[in-house]
Amino acid sequence: MKVYAINGSPRKNKNTATLLQKALDGVKEAAKDKEIETEIINLYDYNYTGCKSCFACKRLEGKSYGKCAVKDDIQEVLEKVSQADGIIFGSPVYFLDITGQLRSFIERLLFPYLVYDKNYSSLAPKKMPTAIIYTMNVTEEIMNKSGYLSTFNNVEGAIERIFTKPLVMYSNDTYQFNDYSKYKMEVFSEEAKAEHRKVQFPLDCQKAFEIGASLIK
Ligand SMILES: Cc1cc2nc3c(=O)[nH]c(=O)nc-3n(C[C@H](O)[C@H](O)[C@H](O)COP(=O)(O)O)c2cc1C
Repeated sequence: MKVYAINGSPRKNKNTATLLQKALDGVKEAAKDKEIETEIINLYDYNYTGCKSCFACKRLEGKSYGKCAVKDDIQEVLEKVSQADGIIFGSPVYFLDITGQLRSFIERLLFPYLVYDKNYSSLAPKKMPTAIIYTMNVTEEIMNKSGYLSTFNNVEGAIERIFTKPLVMYSNDTYQFNDYSKYKMEVFSEEAKAEHRKVQFPLDCQKAFEIGASLIK
């Protein structure tokens, strides 16, 4: 069995990547009896675009029906991830949304499987369990009242339509970098951020672990 974490952050060892690794640790721990391999895929390592709207994936009797016809670096990843036994997506929030890199990946992964029939049914070869982890600067309170959740719901709805309803977690008020004094950052207090990092982030790591642990039934 194989479970992938898809890192939509350009940073390989910061908030999103850390939580994704914890989630994969949870997958491994909970499924000790099953032979599970895990892997993080860092999307920023690949050169690719979003969907090019060629519609080759919807062309009747076309050789790419139900598959993405765009040939670039992400093709091999799309193929292996489609055969996964679980997928955990992770993204920092950029301008109230997932990053462009994850958005492009999701377009390429999901759209070929979306059938334009009455039910908008799915051609996905596997209905594997999924999860999504968002990390962001804003507090939970601001996230809840500032329109973040409606964008997130759209992303989750698309994943659900093609695969399964994702388990969801948010990590708020993240620590963005070391030494806030070196940056123009008047709205944030490094002291408060560091405290949150010390107290809350380990709890977020634990939550990510639990999400991973509950992914594979
Ligand atoms: C281009 C850019 C846009 C961002 N936009 C938002 C935003 O709209 N809301 C928010 O809460 N945080 C925003 N952030 C902060 C990141 O979401 C946050 O620091 C995140 O935890 C970084 O994840 P990483 O450490 O895995 O890279 C933004 C950061 C960048 C670089």
